Parts: sequence; C-alpha cells; structure tokens
Amino acid sequence: MHILHVVGARPNFMKAAPVLRAIKETGANQSLVHTGQHYDINMSDVFFRELKIPHPDVNLAVGSGSHAQQTAEIMGRFETAVLEHKPDMVLVYGDVNSTVAAALVCAKLSIPVGHVEAGLRSFDRGMPEEINRVITDQLSEVLFTPSADGDENLLREGIAREKIHLVGNVMIDTLIHLLPVAQARKNGSPQKYALVTLHRPANVDDPHVLRTVLTSLLTLSQDLRVIFPVHPRTRQAIGEFGLQTDGIQIMDPMSYLEFLALQCHATVVITDSGGIQEETTYLGIPCLTVRPNTERPVTVEIGTNILVGNDMDKLRTETLNVLHGRAKQGRLPALWDGHAGERIASILVKQL
Ligand code: UD1
Repeated sequence: MHILHVVGARPNFMKAAPVLRAIKETGANQSLVHTGQHYDINMSDVFFRELKIPHPDVNLAVGSGSHAQQTAEIMGRFETAVLEHKPDMVLVYGDVNSTVAAALVCAKLSIPVGHVEAGLRSFDRGMPEEINRVITDQLSEVLFTPSADGDENLLREGIAREKIHLVGNVMIDTLIHLLPVAQARKNGSPQKYALVTLHRPANVDDPHVLRTVLTSLLTLSQDLRVIFPVHPRTRQAIGEFGLQTDGIQIMDPMSYLEFLALQCHATVVITDSGGIQEETTYLGIPCLTVRPNTERPVTVEIGTNILVGNDMDKLRTETLNVLHGRAKQGRLPALWDGHAGERIASILVKQL
C-alpha cells in the first residue's frame, strides 16, 4: 500500500502531521508532496521542523499567483509527480487551492482521493475555500469528517454514506500533541491581551473594510494589549493602502509553537481563520470571529466562538464582556480527543 500526501499551505501542515505519524506506525509506504503554495520560511519550513513532518519527497515550488494560475500550475506539476510515484491513494487536506488542484488531477487519472477535513460548509460561495471544499468532496472516494455536521452536509450533497467516516479533528490531534511543549514556553506577558489574525480576502483586500477593522483594533488597544502576527497577504494590503497600525503590536507570522503559546494564555482571540476557531474552542479561550459565517458551526454551537461579522460595535461589546468576566463558556466537541489521525490510518489500512 502506498499513500501519497499533498500539502501546500500553512493550515495543511498541522492536519497532515498526525496522519503521517499514524500511517507510519502501520508500516505502510507513504510519500509527501509539497506544492509550494506557501514558501516563506515562517509560513512553511518552520512548521515542518516543529511538527516533525518528514522532508517532502517532491516540492512543486508553485509559489503565488491568481487562483486560476496557482491552481493550474499545481495541477500541471502534480500530474507529473503523481504519475511517477504511482500511489494507491492520494490524501488531500482542508480547503486550500493545493487541495482541490491535487484532487482534480487524481480524479482524471482514476487515482482514489481521500479528503481529510471533509464536509465542512460555510454555505458562502463568495469564499474561495468553499468552492475548494465542495469540489474536493465530490471528487473524493473516502471522506474523513471532523464533526457530525460534515456528515450531514455530504449526505445532502449526494455523497454515498459508505464513503463518509466521522473520525474527529486532526488539527486538534496536533494541538494535544504539542500543547505541553507550547505551555512550557515562557509567555513573558502577564498582561491581558487580545491575539489577532486576519487574512481572508473579504477582510483585507478592500481598503475600507481593512481600515475599519484596524481602527476598531486601535480602539480596543486602549483596554488591552493587541498582538497581531500579520499574514503576508495582510501585510501587503496594509502597506499598499497606507494604513495606520500604531498602538497595535504588529509581528511577523509565527511558528506553530510560538502561536500556540500565545494563544493558550490569551484573554481573547480575534480572527478570521478557520483552524483558530477550533483551537480556541479546545483551549476554552473566547474567540471572536470577524466573518458573517463559519464552516465550523460546532465552535459556535458548543464551543467558545462568537461570529461578529463586520459589526465592529459587536466586536467591542463582546471584548468588553470577556474583560468583565462574562465570556461565553464552551464544551468540547465529540472526538476531538487526539486520535483522529489513528482512526484515519486504521480505516485506510482496512480499505486498501
Ligand atoms: C491560503 C488559503 C487559505 C488559508 C491560508 C492560510 C487558498 C484559496 N487559501 O490563503 O484558505 O487560510 O492560505 O495562510 O488556498 N505569500 C507570501 N509568502 C508565502 C505565502 C503567501 O508572501 O509563503 C503571499 C503571496 O504572495 C500572496 C498572498 O500571500 O500574495 C496570499 O497567498 P495565497 O497562498 O495565495 O493565499 P492565502 O491568502 O495565504
């Protein structure tokens, strides 16, 4: 049995790490392709090191581009790589352009695809990742879902029940695995702080929207320290639009462990990321999501997540609620127990 994993962008790395580890335990043959969608040291290499992901067998080095250019470039280069490696199955992760590109190549070559983190839906087709999710799920032979809503979404879209496996959350596997290491790191900040990440096109590509959010963060910085590790896309936008960030502690993108160490001691997290909504729910840290919807509804229904959308008054009110001891309390979703990767490995061993 030969399984080929495809990763490309930062959020893929934490999802693939536990699956690679669990499949290695089974003794199966596996290889790893990095598409190079993310290529900066602090967006890629440092994650491989900290998560102990093996060196990729192939790096397609596609780099940046428009969605069409990037996806097409990955498809062309990945086709050559997959034909050389002849895997029995290709595993793709999450919802980035690398995920859909690899799935499409495999579907056309009749190589079975397994999708890790299948079934998530924001029901917002304006979000590039939503298109990637829907298409990847339609092309996959085996679909591993993190929560029961994923199963329901897939069944509604006509995916056969026997293809769907509720395995839990692989991102949380990585968190559980590395939390003790992150907690042992000195935080150096006894003060209260809000930890911020923003990179969605809907929040950062429009100067008016980005200015409004940054102005709200500046106002919040009067009540608590605001720490903002900035994604390259957001940094470019702030520079291009000439926006003011004095008062906000702007930093370069962080490594997994650096970010987790800050996250687990944060007073509140303000984000538009998908994975961080889940991590805060696991950690019991209040999360205010600057999006009108989420593909991870369990984080709102039972976790600590609150959608504030673009309502900056709500962002302020909810932050003050946290500061005054009125934070939303959450519980842990089922199967977020650190063993999702092992469940995936054992299903694959049975199937292949
Ligand atoms: C991608 C994913 C998104 C994920 C995010 C996490 C898609 C459609 N989007 O968005 O789902 O949440 O990654 O980070 O796949 N850049 C660098 N250095 C890098 C990588 C990117 O400078 O290492 C710059 C690029 O030049 C580009 C911008 O960041 O201008 C955006 O990169 P891209 O990979 O296209 O999309 P993300 O916004 O990172």
